[in-house]
Amino acid sequence: MHRAGDGHAVDDQTTEGSPEATEGAGPGTAAGAGSATDAADSGAAPSRRALLGWGGAGLALGAVAAGGTVAAVRGGDRIEPAAESGAAVPFHGTHQAGIATAVQDRLHFASFDVTTKDRAELVQLLKDWTRAAERMTAGRTIGEGAYGGVAEAPPDDTGEALGLKPSRLSLTVGFGPSLFAENRFGLADRRPDALVDLPGFPGDNLDPARTGGDLCVQACADDPQVAVHAIRNLARIGFGKVAVRWSQLGFGKTSSTTPGAQTPRNLFGFKDGTENIDGADPAALDRHVWVSAKDGAGWLAGGSYLVARRISMRIESWDRTSLQEQEDIFGRDKGEGAPVGKAHEHDKPNLKAMLPTAHVRLAHPDAHHGVRMLRRGYSFTDGTDGLGRLDAGLFFLAYQRDVRDAFIPVQQSLARSDALNEYIQHVGSAVFAVPPGVRDTGDWWGRALVS
Ligand code: HEM
Repeated sequence: MHRAGDGHAVDDQTTEGSPEATEGAGPGTAAGAGSATDAADSGAAPSRRALLGWGGAGLALGAVAAGGTVAAVRGGDRIEPAAESGAAVPFHGTHQAGIATAVQDRLHFASFDVTTKDRAELVQLLKDWTRAAERMTAGRTIGEGAYGGVAEAPPDDTGEALGLKPSRLSLTVGFGPSLFAENRFGLADRRPDALVDLPGFPGDNLDPARTGGDLCVQACADDPQVAVHAIRNLARIGFGKVAVRWSQLGFGKTSSTTPGAQTPRNLFGFKDGTENIDGADPAALDRHVWVSAKDGAGWLAGGSYLVARRISMRIESWDRTSLQEQEDIFGRDKGEGAPVGKAHEHDKPNLKAMLPTAHVRLAHPDAHHGVRMLRRGYSFTDGTDGLGRLDAGLFFLAYQRDVRDAFIPVQQSLARSDALNEYIQHVGSAVFAVPPGVRDTGDWWGRALVS
């Protein structure tokens, strides 16, 4: 059996191949001919020989077993908090999963440079990635799995997720401004006006090695190994066409899209995500997150824009700061998360009661014509810096309908005046146009852009 799991309570929205999904295959089985998944891949189904050209990372050939159970959640369209962390998040939908989806516990984010110059290869990569993502998010292995296939070739799947449940894995793709450059893939006239290069902000100390990228994949899951497996296998499939430019692991969510659930805390110990957009509020999502057909680039309708910022946090300095100062900096108390002068976390903030330099006062929608972002960031620690200080921070991820109205003005205001700046520094940055969801098994990431 590839990805394990008994009791395959498979939701028909999730699995295109329920017979194989419910049966599974024993070790050494290379079945799957005529499976629903093969049918799903027909038309764009790579030949077995072509599949081996990825170094054996083939698709759609083998029998697989679905792992875990599928909770009553829906894909990118409308999201309910998943009842159990082993569940599968449906891959297909109007919007990509991983945006409004109830935030999973772990992150592996990768930014890629496209190394091929051939547009047809880029298109094939996006198709291959989509087929692989369909399978991995359902808890399946890629192709013939991690063992039992052709003995002379590397296995199709790297194998470290064998026996693990889908763990609410979501995979979300984005396209960076550089993909649309003149004389690359003929996409210059398809670049949305809103996909601007982010301006420099006061205090930025961006490392070029952690900045930019032609493509990104955000993998979120409740099990870190499932997220890492997904990025690793997508990178492997892309060998010779894309190269990882930079990547980031996140160990703890700092934001919530489920207001009813307990708000997570960031590395400064404060509740983070209190005033975030509710992932189950379609009106707020339509207004602030999803790009509308009226916004310009038709191919992006139903998509979004993602800003990623690696923000270092000076943990040791913060830990020597008084509680009062910490609370003044955010404009909320540390225990309850209540705004200044209020008793409860979800009480309406009185911005005027906060210091003019308080983070919440500066970032609040009332200071920005009502504009909001859907924040989906993760805490990270990447060891220490050689001086005994934690190399830690927030990998800030925010989805929005137009970065020119949202991230850019909010960050301009924060970079200028936020009291928090004494304790943080932005060291990496990227922006991506995030295409709409993959509708069904005949669709693929970016089809409306590149076909
Ligand atoms: C390490 C950096 C940061 C930390 C530790 C941090 C922390 C927090 C905390 C604790 C809150 C209050 C709770 C909440 O409503 O979520 C908050 C609110 C918020 N933050 Fe940040 N934040 C950081 C960076 C940023 C950046 C870069 C932006 C955008 C440019 C941003 C935008 C916001 C917004 C929009 C709110 C909600 C304000 C409201 O509606 O009341 N934050 N942040």
